[in-house]
This record gives sequence, C-alpha cells and structure tokens, in this order.
Amino acid sequence: MADLCVVGTGYVGLVTGACFAELGHRVWCVDLDDRKVALINAGKSPIYEPGLDELLKRSLKRHALVATTSLSEAVTQADFSFLCVGTPSAEDGSTDLSIIRRAASELGKALHDKHVNSRKSKAKKRHVVIVKSTVPPGTSESLDQLLREAAAPDFGMCMNPEFLREGSAVNDFLQPDRIVVGGNERKDVDAVGRLYAGVKVPLIKTGLRTAEMIKYASNSFLATKISFANELANMCEQFGIDVYEVADGMGYDRRIGRAFLNAGAGFGGSCFKKDVSSLIYEAKKRGSRTAILDAVMGVNELQPFRVVDLLERGLGSLSGKRIALLGLAFKDETDDIRDSAAIKVARALVKKGALVVAYDPKAAENARRELGGAILYANSPKEALKDADACALVTEWKSFGKIPLSAFKYMRGRLVVEGRQVLDKKALKKAGFKYLGIGRA
Ligand code: UDX
Repeated sequence: MADLCVVGTGYVGLVTGACFAELGHRVWCVDLDDRKVALINAGKSPIYEPGLDELLKRSLKRHALVATTSLSEAVTQADFSFLCVGTPSAEDGSTDLSIIRRAASELGKALHDKHVNSRKSKAKKRHVVIVKSTVPPGTSESLDQLLREAAAPDFGMCMNPEFLREGSAVNDFLQPDRIVVGGNERKDVDAVGRLYAGVKVPLIKTGLRTAEMIKYASNSFLATKISFANELANMCEQFGIDVYEVADGMGYDRRIGRAFLNAGAGFGGSCFKKDVSSLIYEAKKRGSRTAILDAVMGVNELQPFRVVDLLERGLGSLSGKRIALLGLAFKDETDDIRDSAAIKVARALVKKGALVVAYDPKAAENARRELGGAILYANSPKEALKDADACALVTEWKSFGKIPLSAFKYMRGRLVVEGRQVLDKKALKKAGFKYLGIGRA
C-alpha cells in the first residue's frame, strides 16, 4: 500500500485515483476546482464514466481516497505524485503544455516546502513524480528540469501513459493489455511498477521518451486502422461489398485483429485528433515526413460528410427536409461531444437548410450548449423519428439497435442512413425502407 497524490480530476485523473484506491492505496486527488472537489468527496463523479461513482463511494467509505484543492497537503502525505492534467491541442496542432508545466512548477515548490518544513522521516523518503498526461516525447525531461528549478529535493521522474477509453475507462485501468513505465532510474520505475501489483499484465519498463512515444504511436495506429477501414468502406460501396464483412474476414488474421476496423462516420473524441496532430507537428518540426498520418487525418476530416452525401442521394435537396439524427456523442457510452462526427453532421445539415431533430441517451445537454437552438432535441428515438423525411444514425449507441421497426414507421419518409453498424439493415429493407450505409452493400 502506498500514499499517492493525483493532480487533476478529469477522466484520467479521477479514474486513476479511484482505481489506485481500489488497488489498496491511499489517494489524495487534487484539483483547483473546489466544486469538483466537493462533488468527489460527496461520492459524485463530475464526469460520466460507467462504474466510477460506485468506485468513488467505496473508496471514500474506506477512507482510501479524498479530494482536496491543497497540493501541499497531498504532497506532504504522498510518496508518489501523478500529473494527470490536460494537455490540449494548440491551434497549430502542437500540444499546449502550459497547464502541465504550471502543475510541475507548483509540485516542485510543494516538494521543496515538504522537505524544508517537515523533519519527519517521510520527508526524507524519495518522492517519485509520474507524468500520466499524454505529452510529446521529451516533455517529461523538461518537466524534470522545471521541478529541479523549483528546488524540489531528491525526487524521481517517471512517465506512465494511460490507455483509457471513455465509457470503459475503469475497466481499461484495472484490466489493461499492458502497463508502460518509463524512467531514468530503475529504482523509480520498479517502485511505480509495484503500485500496479494487483494488475496481472505485462509491465514494460523503458525510458521516459519511449514511454511517451508508445502512447502517441498506439493512438496514432488506432486512428490509422479506423481511417483505413473508412477508406476501404468508401471503396466497398462502389464495389457493392459490405465493408463489415470484409473487416470480419481480415480480423481473423492475428497480425491484423478485428478491433478498430469498424468503418463509419469517422473518429472523434478528445484524443485521436489531438494526439495524431501533435505527433505530426513534432515529427515535422524534426524534419520527418508524416505521409501516412497526414492521410489518416485527411480521410477523417471528410468522413462525417459521407452521411450527408447519402442523405442527398436518397432525398435530393435537403433544404426544408426534416432529419431525425440518432446520436450526438462522439461514441456510445459517453456524454462527451468533443470532435463528435454527429455534431459535424448536424451542423452540415442545418447549413443545407434541413430541420434536424436529434436524440442521444446522454449527450443532449452538452450538445445543446454547443449547438443551442440550431437543432431540436427529442426525448426519445420515436419522438425524433416522428414525421421525419429521413433518419441518420451517427453514434453507435447499442440501444439504437433495439428501436422497434414500428418507431421507424412514424417517419414521413422511408430513408434510413447509417454512419455506423448498429441497425438491422436486412429488416429495414424488408420493411420497405431505403437503407444507405457507409461502406454497406
Ligand atoms: C481513445 C483510445 O482508444 C484510448 O486508448 C486512448 O487512451 C484515448 O483515446 P476514446 O477516444 O475514449 O479512446 O474512444 P475510442 O473507443 O477509441 O473511440 C474513438 C473514436 O473512434 C470514436 O469516435 C469511435 O466512434 C471511433 N471508432 C472507434 C471508429 O470509428 N471505429 C472503430 O472501430 C473504433
């Protein structure tokens, strides 16, 4: 059991804190936002993540986790500090490191004060700082420098990337495929590795930059698989082939794997575009070509508009047409609309003069903050479908696959366009609907 400080309570920080508490450690979660701190201490997660509330409540009950706005309090108690703050994209595609640099400086000062003010043996114990935020290769070394400038006493620096997917982050933390820990000192890497003692998966010990690159390379490859599937989908339509059947045939090859070969309206979310853009930026800055990653982004930029193409193929002009939009979140099991293909589709339809009536199980409130009154918001799929000239499914909520055909029959028109693979195309066609899907025959 160890005492850990986790800086940042976004979906990485909070999931990390709660899961480390579940693994038997004592965790201080630090955030500047006292509203978030209060919510967490009340057992309410400020973010929607399946299973997180229960984990929080359990950890609070065991006094294994507490949230605080005081970094110095947390650092004084802890022997490890995880930096889990945001590293957003800047306009030029580079990563904005201002937040994590500020956090590192404050952490350095807090470590210095701990060393000076507390004579207890604890202060003498080597403190390990771990970067968990996604940062370009070379960043952890520069943060190390910042900490030294803040006169932090003897400390270790490690980099431990996360591979958490929104909607399954708790499970991805507790049952990952591998754990990666980078660091200059073997004793620090081993100490961080031991924090995951309860997680029986391969532990990869490496250097700081390699750990940073493993994260970028992993996300970039996942994005590449998706854009490959989408380019294949656009081809399959021309050949009269169903791309999902092709993906199934490919996926049995262990060298390929079926996961992340689901074609559709393109990838969204807070990570893929950010991480691929950052890797492109950093590589180009060092004189490397990024032909493949440029193409990955190029395919993805256009993909959401394939939904609009199919609607126009089925309806002709969209001006004045009523379109039922199923889904607003960037994927299922989340309320997050960041870089969501569905939001791009909604905007494009409104621009073409269509009336959009959207339904999403979780993301409507976030979408309303983004789109306001530009579209209408339905409280159920049936309400969205009622009197619609066409329906467009863009987010892969599994519940959309359970919408009864009778609900579709409330539509005025008979066109169903699918930007994922959720609906039963055969049943819809049999029931007299015109079904058009990305990559579908
Ligand atoms: C991703 C990575 O999966 C995760 O490892 C990393 O830590 C953070 O970024 P996330 O963005 O939360 O996770 O969701 P993910 O499930 O990867 O989906 C991202 C986007 O890709 C979604 O818009 C989803 O609809 C799309 N997607 C996913 C596809 O279009 N096809 C697929 O086969 C899989």
